[in-house]
Amino acid sequence: MAISRAGFRSVSWAGQFLASSRASWRCAPCRTTTRPATTIRPRRFATAAADSTSKKPYYVTTPIFYVNAAPHVGHLYTMVLADVIKRWRTLIGDNDAQLLTGTDEHGMKIQQAALAAEMDTQAFCDQNYKTFEALANAANMDYNYFIRTTEPAHKEAVQYFWEMLSHRGYIYTAKHEGWYSVSDETFYPQTQVQKSLDPETGHTKMVSIETGKEVEWSSETNYHFRLSAFQERLLDLYKTGFITPSIYGTNVFNSVSEGLSDLSISRPTERLSWGIPVPGDNTQTVYVWLDALVNYLTKAGYPFAPGQGSSLGWPADVHVVGKDIVRFHSVYWPAFLMALDLPVPRNVLVHGHWTINREKMSKSTGNVVNPFFAINRFGVDSMRFFLIYQGALVGDADYDNAYIIRDYQKLLQKGLGNLAHRAIGCAKGNLRSYIENGTSGRLPAATLADEEYEAMLKEVPNKVAELMDNLNPRAALQEITSLVDQTNKYFHHAEPWKNPIDRQRSLYNVAESLRIASILLQPVMPTKANELLDMLQVDKTDPAKRKFAAARYGSDLDYGANAKKSVLFPPLIVES
Ligand code: ME8
Ligand code: MG
Repeated sequence: MAISRAGFRSVSWAGQFLASSRASWRCAPCRTTTRPATTIRPRRFATAAADSTSKKPYYVTTPIFYVNAAPHVGHLYTMVLADVIKRWRTLIGDNDAQLLTGTDEHGMKIQQAALAAEMDTQAFCDQNYKTFEALANAANMDYNYFIRTTEPAHKEAVQYFWEMLSHRGYIYTAKHEGWYSVSDETFYPQTQVQKSLDPETGHTKMVSIETGKEVEWSSETNYHFRLSAFQERLLDLYKTGFITPSIYGTNVFNSVSEGLSDLSISRPTERLSWGIPVPGDNTQTVYVWLDALVNYLTKAGYPFAPGQGSSLGWPADVHVVGKDIVRFHSVYWPAFLMALDLPVPRNVLVHGHWTINREKMSKSTGNVVNPFFAINRFGVDSMRFFLIYQGALVGDADYDNAYIIRDYQKLLQKGLGNLAHRAIGCAKGNLRSYIENGTSGRLPAATLADEEYEAMLKEVPNKVAELMDNLNPRAALQEITSLVDQTNKYFHHAEPWKNPIDRQRSLYNVAESLRIASILLQPVMPTKANELLDMLQVDKTDPAKRKFAAARYGSDLDYGANAKKSVLFPPLIVES
């Protein structure tokens, strides 16, 4: 568990500073507004401690999860995916990379779930958020902060954000009519709902075509955000590759091209009381998605002092999200930020869904796998490996214990574990001498097979780095498992146990591939990869030996002394 808050500092508002500079940091049109400046209530400001030339910390986020029910394997997947990206940044030397996760605790969905549980809503949140936090820890997520939207600092950030939108003229009141889905916490237009027969009750209900969730007709007066004003700027944004993988970007581009309506951003308090009150109007509660999206700013220290957002991480480098919430992150969120002239996130990384029998695993449907059971049964690193290896960014992935067992046995036990076992065994307790000969050039001449193998091995770290840069951890992991597979074949072919001369070169190469593969595997399997590095006796007192820069053929001269075999991936107890 890592809950250091370094990089996420904030200090209370520096009143004098604001008073002297307020006029200058507002855009020109806003300075001429008729609203008196006193309607902007100054709040906390981020510290300006880091100097302006310092590099922005790399900043990764997960969605904040609704606490209406316990997390499942889908949430675990998002957490692990974001964690792999954060740990990759640390591996390449971004030591101040930041990872934020947390819980979304407001809105109708939570209000109704607490009611159904016959609990006080705050007590319900206080109880349920703990399971998400426990999962982040069980997943060995290296997060820097776990945010809850019921935190006072978040409420301040949201209200300030609202006031700024309002001050700049992007909010107006109007009557709103439409179909609202509590489960999806969103309005749907008439064209996106249909009738559906509920087999349990025999009644016909209206549901969202996209998600199948029930919708109810709602007609009320509430606040609206001028989303339609941002169509062109959003379309330009999508052209820059804002959304990864690009297929999702194309879909969003096409849908936004068709037109954008303004967005309802509050609900009457008599209907929704569990949320943040609209500043200056207690009869309205802030729409849960506006509230939730601002979490990414809250922990970057919003409201920022002029020019200081970046020293605290903003803009986010990657928002990792499931494909169910692409629109919120790639349409509403950048538009809100544009309205305030705040930098937009660099990337939204979208992933597909885990399904059970081809149906989306979902808290509200209840067809879920308990992620704590899965971690207990298979081990945290094996689960992390499986989820990244099989989880789809585009398309969905079907979940089954049989697939986990298959991948564990083939890729981890017979693949990586066995390779380490055989290589260290073949060196007969003297791996060190092969490393010495290898790194001092005292090896027999390379055969064609050696040359081909070495060329491949030298390329792997570059390919992995490129794939990780492109936010494709799955393809990066496939590159590493393919290295292990090719190394097993090379080893088998070279028969170093038979041939004492060739043994020198092939064993050295195999040791190097194990060392390089383990360094590169750390983001996905932090514990197992380090166990393997320990087994190879890669110096653990020198962190540089396990960083990406050390994942170069021939770069570590010192490892291998007293390398001893041990079982990395023990047999699974497979139920019949
Ligand atoms: O949408 N497969 O919260 P949520 C893969 N609070 N990932 C899945 C999944 C599945 N079957 N089911 C859920 C919300 N997820 C809002 C987010 S962010 C400002 C607010 C993951 O509890 C995936 O990341 O419904 C999905 O986007 C997220 O959980 C939705 O979690
Ligand atoms: Mg959901």
